[in-house]
Amino acid sequence: MKRNFILAIDGPAGSGKSTVAKEVAKRLGLLYVDTGAMYRALTLKAIKGGIKFDDEGGLIDLAKGMDIAFKIDGEFKLSVQLEGVDVSEEIRKSYVTNNVKYVARIPGVREEMTKLQRKTASAGKGAVLEGRDIGTVVFPDADRKIYLDANARERISRRFKELKAKGYDVTMDDIEKDVMARDHSDKTREVAPLKKADDAVTIDTTGMTIAEVTERIVREVGNGA
Ligand code: DC
Repeated sequence: MKRNFILAIDGPAGSGKSTVAKEVAKRLGLLYVDTGAMYRALTLKAIKGGIKFDDEGGLIDLAKGMDIAFKIDGEFKLSVQLEGVDVSEEIRKSYVTNNVKYVARIPGVREEMTKLQRKTASAGKGAVLEGRDIGTVVFPDADRKIYLDANARERISRRFKELKAKGYDVTMDDIEKDVMARDHSDKTREVAPLKKADDAVTIDTTGMTIAEVTERIVREVGNGA
């Protein structure tokens, strides 16, 4: 049976994935799946439940029982619901961001997340999924694959502006440390590291606006959706 249309968007922190993936989904009338939010929500759930990051079995069980849902309002603003509670703000805080790597490196956790992501994406006529391993692991047969990148300076400055605009008390130094540390852990983890799929189209978004990147991807998708 032919499955629905899948657009995979991968790339490092600050490459513009989330904003652009949401815009593209809106333009094409597709579902938007933020897979980073799933790893973040699991991390939050572990912290709240007192599950230690070296308790692999406990974290896998937690992933198996995870009740996560995305809600998108009329303005296409995404909210992440964990067990029915809106955790959209909480999962972006640094105590969560800094600890995602401990759950994301466990093969059994990634397996559960992959299942959940495939299931979430199966609703509707198609989906845009953004993350680190969508084109390589979650949907190696995706209809279109995009790898978004940008130079480190720009990625750090985008992240800084984004968090400042949301009212977080951060410095460029904090963000530089976070982005560099996440680049390292995302690219060097043993299971499903961040890397470009062989058949992905790379877009270097340095110096490009959100509208330009969105336009470029919509063009890339062409009549496929
Ligand atoms: O996209 P993000 O910054 O919200 O992702 C947070 C972390 O989640 C990222 O640093 C690594 C992990 N992640 C992952 O391992 N696999 C994915 N598909 C998405 C995110």
